[in-house]
Amino acid sequence: MPSVGRLRYLDAPARGAGRPRGTLVLIHGFPFNARLWEPQLALAGGGWRVVAPELRGFGDGATGPAGASVDDYAGDVIDLLDALHVEEAVIGGLSMGGYVTFAMFRHAPRYFQGMVLADTRSQADTPEGVEGRKRMIQLVRDRGVQAVTDEMMPRLLSDATTREQPEVVEQLRTLMLSSSASAVVGGLTALMTRPDSTPLLSTIRCPTLILVGEADAITPPALSEEMHRRIAGSVLAVIPRAGHVASLEQPSVFNQALAGFLAHRV
Ligand code: MLT
Repeated sequence: MPSVGRLRYLDAPARGAGRPRGTLVLIHGFPFNARLWEPQLALAGGGWRVVAPELRGFGDGATGPAGASVDDYAGDVIDLLDALHVEEAVIGGLSMGGYVTFAMFRHAPRYFQGMVLADTRSQADTPEGVEGRKRMIQLVRDRGVQAVTDEMMPRLLSDATTREQPEVVEQLRTLMLSSSASAVVGGLTALMTRPDSTPLLSTIRCPTLILVGEADAITPPALSEEMHRRIAGSVLAVIPRAGHVASLEQPSVFNQALAGFLAHRV
């Protein structure tokens, strides 16, 4: 995996006839890593360079300090775009990747040619949510990443995925288990301290695609419908039979929605 400074990333050069259309940046959720987006690298065939950053501390063999705020992660992705000489891109993420996308938009809206919000929400954690994060931090300190993985797994995927796609269940578990304990503690700290991004929604003017698994139990479709109402001109795609990790559970439907958005809306 190439890297710039401490940030590693997957990079699929634009392919297909005609001039490259632009760059699509996809930011992974918690506690995954850049490989979450492997099924989306195929979108490079439509003329888009696909760049998937690996957030600080996540992934096999990560070195250096973990992040501790969505601003840490957002700053790293902005630095990566600068290092790659990308002045403007379609930028988005899944779940925590969506929170990082909002942080990037808050600090550097000029980079946004378009936005993709997948299985995410604009609100900050509730006080009960923060308590849950603190319990998880204790859990990872006491019993390691395996315990956090076991705790999170049952809510991440739809029943259909769990029943019919054991390979996807295994793939997700492997992604989670490759995170270090310090990355997980850093990620949980970032999650529980993130600000409410709801006031940003009415200021988003770039083309925006919102995707959500119909059975997402962590960021349910009602939250995406609300973002869709507040972001003028946004497009909403509900992915059948998918849960919170729609990009991995139903990659062809997810990619079709994303490819259509890139071809016709951006
Ligand atoms: C994620 O997938 O990034 C997390 O589930 C986000 C969250 O727990 O809020």
